[in-house]
Amino acid sequence: MSTIKSILTIGLMGAVATVGAQTTYEKDVAPIIQKNCVSCHTPGGYGPFSLQTFNDVYKRAKFIGHVTQTRYMPPWKADPTFSRFANERFLSDDEIATIQRWIDEGLLRGEDNSESPRIIEITDEEPADLVLEMAKPFELSNNGIEDYRFFHIPTGLKKDTYVSKIEFIAGNKRYLHHSRVMVDTSGQTAGIDGLSEFDPLSRFFQTQPLMDEFLYGWVPGNLPVTFPKGIAKLIPANSDLILNIHYAPSAERVTDLSAVKLYFSKNPVEHLVKSFYIEEEDIANPPFIIKAYEKPTFYVSKTITQDMNVVSLLPHMHFLGKKMVALAITPDNKEIPLIRINDWDFNWQSTYLLQEPLFLPKGTVLLLVAEYDNTIENPLNPSDPPRDVTYGWNSTDEMMNLIFYYY
Ligand code: HEC
Repeated sequence: MSTIKSILTIGLMGAVATVGAQTTYEKDVAPIIQKNCVSCHTPGGYGPFSLQTFNDVYKRAKFIGHVTQTRYMPPWKADPTFSRFANERFLSDDEIATIQRWIDEGLLRGEDNSESPRIIEITDEEPADLVLEMAKPFELSNNGIEDYRFFHIPTGLKKDTYVSKIEFIAGNKRYLHHSRVMVDTSGQTAGIDGLSEFDPLSRFFQTQPLMDEFLYGWVPGNLPVTFPKGIAKLIPANSDLILNIHYAPSAERVTDLSAVKLYFSKNPVEHLVKSFYIEEEDIANPPFIIKAYEKPTFYVSKTITQDMNVVSLLPHMHFLGKKMVALAITPDNKEIPLIRINDWDFNWQSTYLLQEPLFLPKGTVLLLVAEYDNTIENPLNPSDPPRDVTYGWNSTDEMMNLIFYYY
């Protein structure tokens, strides 16, 4: 179906192209790249090279044609034919076809209007109220391994605080793969500063319940979470933040000093954002064990016992996760698609912000299906040979979560 659609689209665009002008970089391609790629592909940005100028794009044109056609870039994991989000970023079939046409017609530059400014500078429209930085720069190991570390940052907040926007600022854009921000009110994590997830101590504090296990999930290029007006998240007095950071393999001696920015609510708070979790213990077919050489599917059907207005969704699995789909069935049998990820990638986890808060009445059934692959066919399998895997925070363990922010 989608192939037929894209052939039709290309056919149509082709017909238009012969009547109209030729496809050029300046006229047709640059706007697509500027809008969808340069937020990460700048010098020193999250992407491995810059795509700001004609030469940058010209010399990688074939590669760009490939990664856009396969939809590897820009990274966006939620299937847009299933559900749409406020923070989505993906190319339309037409935009992908335009890039292909530009390549096929010989990479013409067209009239140079590079004088006109078009780099969209992402500047803070408002300063953060509280910037919480890691205690000191963390030196990454230079032996080329994936590294997972915990950091503790006291908030210093003396009173309960309402937060309307949360942002994560990666210190080292090149090597920071993803980060998860948690909130602890027990004080038990003080002093954890670069603790490896393989340190036995990390096992200990994972057994203690946290105030908020997912304040924010960040991947390169992720936008801050901004709650609608009058809606805020509560960070209790004396809370500590815990960062769980995944560093990509590095061969050089580099450091990271990341920070979390909190923006306090300036409007009267009408609703508090709460978290609702679908987790491993909800599965209808326990136990949550992913046996070596198996590809199990787990199912959840969970009824909500109060009305919910959902503002965002955060799916979470580790390297054995392959697919996740979630739907809601309202008491009057309306089926609402929530999110579908057809090719889960641990490295590209996002908070998906709904376009409008979604009202789900009490009695709505949430259905979640997650598929895992613990065979050698899964190139991301961290264990070779595969071993039995169950719940745990470590990247070599597994999780099955869908976290709803709601009010
Ligand atoms: C959210 C940030 C982000 C955006 C937006 C983004 N990229 Fe990337 N891109 C990356 C990162 C990070 C990598 C390196 C990691 C990887 O290859 O998975 C990458 C890698 C690439 C690669 C190399 C792939 C490889 O296999 O080595 C190409 C080509 C590329 N991007 C092109 C694009 C184009 C074209 C766009 C826009 C249509 C785009 N990117 C948008 C972050 C981004």
